[in-house]
Amino acid sequence: MTRLRQSLETARAAVRVLLLGGNLASLTLASRPRELVAYLSESLFLLRAMTGRRGVRQSNVFDVLDCPPTQEITLANLDGDTWLREVPSYTADIVSLCLICRALRPRVVFEIGTLHGYTALHFALNSPEEATVYTLDLPQDARPEPALHTTVVDDAHIKAGTGATRRLFEGTAAAGKIVPLYGDSARFDFSPYHGEVDFFFIDGAHSYDYVASDTLHALACARPGGVIAWHDFGRAGVNGVSRLVRELASTREIHAVPGGSLAFTVA
Ligand SMILES: C[S@@+](CC[C@H](N)C(=O)[O-])C[C@H]1O[C@@H](n2cnc3c(N)ncnc32)[C@H](O)[C@@H]1O
Repeated sequence: MTRLRQSLETARAAVRVLLLGGNLASLTLASRPRELVAYLSESLFLLRAMTGRRGVRQSNVFDVLDCPPTQEITLANLDGDTWLREVPSYTADIVSLCLICRALRPRVVFEIGTLHGYTALHFALNSPEEATVYTLDLPQDARPEPALHTTVVDDAHIKAGTGATRRLFEGTAAAGKIVPLYGDSARFDFSPYHGEVDFFFIDGAHSYDYVASDTLHALACARPGGVIAWHDFGRAGVNGVSRLVRELASTREIHAVPGGSLAFTVA
């Protein structure tokens, strides 16, 4: 049933992307269907970002949080493992995440979705010495059975994150600030973190069920004035982040960074 639901969702999203994003230039990718869908998804994302049709206000971190007139950020040179990619929306996202950390000067950061630790490392590099960065992922040594519905892309990420993968922060000076946690975000006990988190980043599973559940936990954990951010807002495909963020935007102010897929709100 789960597989069938995933397949139907994926097929519907692929057809939608092909119909809405297809153009003559994309025909050159006809023999490479994965790249074709990725290109068309990004084209649609860019169209909506450029024309302000994302359903939430577009603001830079500088426009929303108290920042000095100039702000340094620290980016790690990780020899290939990077969000500074061919697709520039990831660059806007990592710069904005670092800026949020610099502006908030968080004591406690909580992330759902460690994968290889790229964002966790950047939270540590851009937060004060005394900060702690908690980063939650599914157990690495078992075959995790997520409690809620997941998308096909979620399953690929989960597979990439399981096994003996070395995290990017291991062996770095920033590693001492980072506390890896293991568990399913839908079953994890967040109560010790209630009202304690300055910056909560949601980047775990991207189905609507998971994003809604993770967001409820984030709202309980964020301290007043803290920030909650979601990754992959506005990307085409099967994306519960976009639906959830747009729904939430009817009751609270949510910002999307221009050109990026990061959405954030002040708690
Ligand atoms: C998109 S990746 C996160 C990317 C990461 N923030 C980075 O720095 O590159 C999503 C991660 O969420 C994890 N994940 C998926 N479902 C989860 C769940 N229910 N609970 C906790 N983590 C989950 C996956 O194992 C995967 O490592």
